[in-house]
Amino acid sequence: MKHLLSTADLSKEEAVGLLDTAAQMAATQSREIKKLPTLRGRTVVNLFFEDSTRTRISFETAAKRLSADVINFSAKGSSVSKGESLKDTALTLHAMGADAVVVRHWASGAPYQLAHAGWLDAAVLNAGDGMHMHPTQALLDAYTIRRHLAARGSGLAGDGGDGVGADLSGLRVAIVGDVLHSRVARANVALLRTLGAEVTLVAPPTLVPVGVGAWPCRTSYDLDATLDEWRPDAVMMLRVQRERMSGGSGSFFPSPLEYSRYYGLDARRLARLADHAIVMHPGPMNRGLEISAEAADSDKAVIVEQVANGIAVRMAALYLLMAGDSSAEGNDL
Ligand code: CP
Repeated sequence: MKHLLSTADLSKEEAVGLLDTAAQMAATQSREIKKLPTLRGRTVVNLFFEDSTRTRISFETAAKRLSADVINFSAKGSSVSKGESLKDTALTLHAMGADAVVVRHWASGAPYQLAHAGWLDAAVLNAGDGMHMHPTQALLDAYTIRRHLAARGSGLAGDGGDGVGADLSGLRVAIVGDVLHSRVARANVALLRTLGAEVTLVAPPTLVPVGVGAWPCRTSYDLDATLDEWRPDAVMMLRVQRERMSGGSGSFFPSPLEYSRYYGLDARRLARLADHAIVMHPGPMNRGLEISAEAADSDKAVIVEQVANGIAVRMAALYLLMAGDSSAEGNDL
């Protein structure tokens, strides 16, 4: 694996290997000294053309915990705002000796171009491109699901702790809300199916992408029926992406109140989930719209844990791409 561009590129073996390496990374983070020497002398550039809190900070933390040098580049305040192209930005990073480039871009496919255009000799990690993909988010979601629920599935024998070695066979995940604009949904559908989970997308008809019938999942317009009849093990709420809704949210649903009534996770719906079920959200949340404060702060919510797991998962991704080994075994973690 030279780049991490899409969860659709990952085999089951690679995906389970990434999650297992993340579990090893997480174990190192409970030590007094969290820093590992693994990427000493290597340079990671965080190239962000779109806003981010969680992904940018956790990639920076992950790279620093592996002893890499980190350069943070935000398009705002850079020569990109003077019209510099992606190619010239990439050539500049190449001249500076970047070994890995973590890129978030508003254009779907920008990370592919960086990886394959020959402008850079660096590993490219997609930190979210347009409405297309967000592979490390899906990996941290799968890692979180596995930690909580792997023992319930019929996947490979786990160790009963972090679920090391296990896939997600037998588990049901409902992904709810603004699927149309969501790279998190696309990345999760591909990865969850590779790992053996069943997925149902739940959204109003206006927020279901054209061609979803070809995706490896079910689709429903009815959240209540999905919760009561399909009985998901994990419910992943999606952010309503108002910034991607040209013409305002009114063109996709009648009102925020109506959206919440039909597609929001509130205390009433939370109470109907199975005892073991978990509530997820990639963040940032629109509290009161797709998720109520009661649901977001409930015992079932693993939203803060998702953020924490993002560091171990991104350490694993950087390690596997930059240290050039598909297994952490035999390496000095
Ligand atoms: N989940 C996620 O991508 O969050 P950020 O936009 O804050 O990075």
